[in-house]
Amino acid sequence: MRQIQKDPNAGTFQFSETALGEIEKIYARYPAAQRRSALMPILHLAQREFGGWLSQEALDFVAEFTGIAQIRVYEVATFYTMYNLEPVGKYHVQVCTNISCWLCDSDGVMASLNGKLKQEFGTTSDDGRFTLVEVECLGACVNAPMMQINDDYYENLTPEKVSDIIDRLP
Ligand code: FES
Repeated sequence: MRQIQKDPNAGTFQFSETALGEIEKIYARYPAAQRRSALMPILHLAQREFGGWLSQEALDFVAEFTGIAQIRVYEVATFYTMYNLEPVGKYHVQVCTNISCWLCDSDGVMASLNGKLKQEFGTTSDDGRFTLVEVECLGACVNAPMMQINDDYYENLTPEKVSDIIDRLP
């Protein structure tokens, strides 16, 4: 089970005006009696707004904001791996190693990243630029192997392409 972490540096949480507008649109997708179903997209928005991860303080803010019990928010956040429960680097690099990607040499993709960044999977670089993680299927099997960096998918990868992609990141 994934653990929720407190953030000793957590300040006061507040959604931006843009996020509040987005939340209104999210709520509009659901019948009034089913507003709790909006929790997942709101958590995603909170992660984006609050530094790329969800601390206990951020989750508690979402619970209060949505009127959903804290335990329900914790249950969702700890179940789905797209919610980051610890800080991530500027570039969150997720490499799929599920069956299609594995058959198409996701091992080579990982080795290329290891060599290029001099960094192991499951770690964040000391300069805070890269977090490398191995993940299950990201739904792009037809173009395996693939990786996701922040919101972008990179498909039909080779070790050489991976190296070029890293070089082109600002
Ligand atoms: S197996 Fe890698 S995207 Fe589906």
